[in-house]
Formats: sequence, structure tokens, C-alpha cells
Amino acid sequence: MNCQSSEELQALVDECRVYAKQGKVADYIPALKKAKQDDLSISIFYPDGHGFSAGDCHQSMTLQSISKVISLALAIMDRGAEYVFERVGQEPTGDPFNSIAKLETNKPSKPLNPMINAGALAVTHMIKGANIEERLLRLMTFIHDITRNDQIKVNEEVASSEFKTANLNRSLCYFLKQHNVIDENVEDLINLYTKQCAIEVTCMDLAKIGCVLAMDGFEMSTGRQIIPKDIARICKTFMVTCGMYNASGEFAIKVGIPAKSGVSGGIMGAVPGKCGIGLFGPSLDEKGNSIAGIKLLEKMSHKYSLSMF
Ligand code: DON
Repeated sequence: MNCQSSEELQALVDECRVYAKQGKVADYIPALKKAKQDDLSISIFYPDGHGFSAGDCHQSMTLQSISKVISLALAIMDRGAEYVFERVGQEPTGDPFNSIAKLETNKPSKPLNPMINAGALAVTHMIKGANIEERLLRLMTFIHDITRNDQIKVNEEVASSEFKTANLNRSLCYFLKQHNVIDENVEDLINLYTKQCAIEVTCMDLAKIGCVLAMDGFEMSTGRQIIPKDIARICKTFMVTCGMYNASGEFAIKVGIPAKSGVSGGIMGAVPGKCGIGLFGPSLDEKGNSIAGIKLLEKMSHKYSLSMF
């Protein structure tokens, strides 16, 4: 059974909002501290072009780690899968998203997957363009192409707040540079990465991107193959194995939807062959995933039989 109305979604939002009290909003990027703990909103988008939203769905959020799926698709489109995966691995880590530990123990020294920060930084390095501005514009154009949202822009306050405090990410970059995974100026790469993470979207934008991934890269309403089928499949597979960081296993069991979270509280879901889901709930659990959002997805998955397993 598909979702039939915003009212159905609103009932689930109302039921799950209470869980937000058990988490806290991200504060390691100072500008993210301003988020309201009990915000919760969701959109669902179907391949025939209709969708529903509930909660404060006009509010925008920054992509944060959800951008890692989009940059991965673009980098593989630019360079080919073989090139990308010679430099970044394909295995889950079980470590926190910003961990440096496995970089040293894994031989040869390459990040274990594109969803942890080290891997994502290496992937962003691979996006083609004459300079940072052009590479960022290519990412934003890609997002605009799918969402048709003319408001897509970088939240400069969030980007600069992260740029000033991203010293752990800088250290990951220097490690990658030492081991020849990247060869660009670290400040330039951090500049691009923090802007990529600070691209603003709505829940409906995330649902639309999720829907294109769910449909193997194909947008039914316009007949366009936006992402090659193989690349969409790779993205969805990483979303299952590493999209919710070291909570990906439990999420696969309880929800069963390829999904990617970000520390702003966003989650993008791609239900294979069915629909895309976008969610915003800034109160996070200890692993950095939206605490009320995960509950909401769990209930939706049961109600609409969304698990792929
Ligand atoms: O690299 C960072 O710290 C962030 N801009 C993105 C991290 C993130 O969203 C992790 N997600 N759960």
C-alpha cells in the first residue's frame, strides 16, 4: 500500500516527535547548534511525480554527509568506477564517520568506503572541474537537475563555521596526501568539501533525489536517465552497507531501506522500484543519526511495506 495523503504522514510525525527529546543537535559545527531539537518533517516522492509532505517541510537543512552519495555518483560519472575504487574501498567500517583509525591499519592506505569522511574527501577530490567554484557548481547543477529547486544554494554560515573547525578532516586529508590518494591543496579540498556539505535542500528535494536512485537513475516523469543504472546501483549498495554509519546493520534489519544520514539531521531514503524519502529531524543519537527520524522510518517501513529484505 502506498501513502495516500499528507495526513497519514503527519500522524506518524506526531507519534515520533517525542523521541527527539532523547537525542541532541550536533554542536561540533557551531552553526548547527541553532537547530530546534524537536523539529521533524518528512516527504515521500513517487516515480510518477506525485508526493506528500508532513511536519515543517518548507524548512531547509544542509546536506552534510548526504552529499557523499551525490558526490560519489558524480565522481564515478567523471572517472569511472575502476578509477574511483582503486583509491577508495568498498567495505563498511563499524567506526564513527570521522575516524582516522583504519586509515593507518588498512594496507594499502586507502579509505575503507566513500561514506566515511576520509573516503568522501577522496571522492570529492575526484570531481572534475577547472577550480573549486566549477566543481561546486557541477555538484549543485546535478542536484538542481533532479530537484528543479531554484533555491539550491550553499549556506555560507554553516560552510564557514565548518571550515574554521574542520581540523580532524584536515588531518584525514594530509594522511591521504601522504599516501598519494589525493594530490590537491588541502585547504582547497576542505573549502570544497565544507561547501558541498552546506548545500541547502528541503525534505522534498531529498525525496526526489532518493526517488531517482530508487528507479536506477531513471526519472520516469521526463524519461531521462539522470544517473547511469550501474552507478545508481553502487550508490544504493553503499547506502545499505554504510549509509547510517556504524548503525547501518541495525537500520537494515529494522527499516530495510537504502538510506544516507547527515549530522544536520537529514536522511535520504531510496526504496528500490518504489519511491524516495526525505526527512529532517536534527536531534541525533550517539552515532550521529536523526533519532526521531529513524523511529519514523521504522514505522513507515512497516506501514507501507518498504523493507527491501
Ligand atoms: O565531515 C563532516 O564533519 C560533516 N560536514 C559531515 C559529517 C556528517 O554529516 C556525518 N553524519 N552523520
